[in-house]
Amino acid sequence: MTEPTPADRPTSGPARKPHEFAATRDWPGYFDAVAGSGPRDTLLRALELFDQPIDPDAPPLAIDLGCGEGRDTQHLIDLGWRVLAIDGHADAIRRIREVRRLAEHPRLTLLELPFESVEQLPACDLLAASFSLPFCPPEHFARLWSELQAALKPGAIFAGQLFGDRDEWATLPDRAHHTREAALELLSAFEIDTFNEEERDGEDASGTPKHWHVFHIVARKR
Ligand SMILES: C[S@@+](CC[C@H](N)C(=O)[O-])C[C@H]1O[C@@H](n2cnc3c(N)ncnc32)[C@H](O)[C@@H]1O
Repeated sequence: MTEPTPADRPTSGPARKPHEFAATRDWPGYFDAVAGSGPRDTLLRALELFDQPIDPDAPPLAIDLGCGEGRDTQHLIDLGWRVLAIDGHADAIRRIREVRRLAEHPRLTLLELPFESVEQLPACDLLAASFSLPFCPPEHFARLWSELQAALKPGAIFAGQLFGDRDEWATLPDRAHHTREAALELLSAFEIDTFNEEERDGEDASGTPKHWHVFHIVARKR
C-alpha cells in the first residue's frame, strides 16, 4: 500500500467518516476515507473457518463482491488465494490496479460490473461481500443473492453484511435492507457461524446522528 492513510492526509476541516461518503454513494471519497484499512472481521472469521492449507498449484477461489479499493482482495491475495474482485465503480478497480499495484497479479481477476449485471459467477470457495450488498438496487437484490448462492460450492463460506430495516438508510429508495427474519431466511441454505446484529446510534464528524442496524454474517453453504 502506498496510499497515505486518512490520518496522514492533510485536512481542512473535521475528517469525514467513511459512512458519510457511502450515504451519498461518493465512492472515491469513501475509498480515500478507508485507505490503509485492513481486512474486514467477517472475512477474517471466514478464513478461520476455511481450515484447508492453500495449495499453490491449485489455489482456492474467492469472489470479492463490491470489492471497493481492495482491502479484502489484498488480504486474500497475500494469503495465496485466487480472487475475482468485482465492483461497479471504475475508481475501485483503478485503485486496486494502480494504488495496490495488483494490475498484473496472476491470481487476480478484476471486473468492473454493476451488481445489476452480475451473472454466472464461477464456482468459488469463499465469497466476501463486505458492506456492499445493501447498495444493490432492491429490485435486483433477489437475483444477485441467487447468483451468489449458486456460485458458492457446498461447504464454501459467505462473509459479509446486510443492513437492517431500522437502519437510517432503510428509507432511501436505492438500498436493499432486510428485517432480521428476512436476513435469516436468505441464509436458509447455509449453516450459520456468525449472525451478529448490531444496532446503535452513532454520530458523524459534524455531529449528525446515524442509526446503524447491521447484520454481520459468516455462514457455510450446505
Ligand atoms: C461501502 S463500500 C464497501 C467496499 C469494500 N467491500 C469494503 O469493505 O470497504 C460499497 C462498495 O459497493 C460498490 N457498489 C455500490 N453499488 C454497486 C452496484 N450497484 N454494483 C456494483 N458495485 C456497487 C461501491 O462501488 C463500493 O465499492
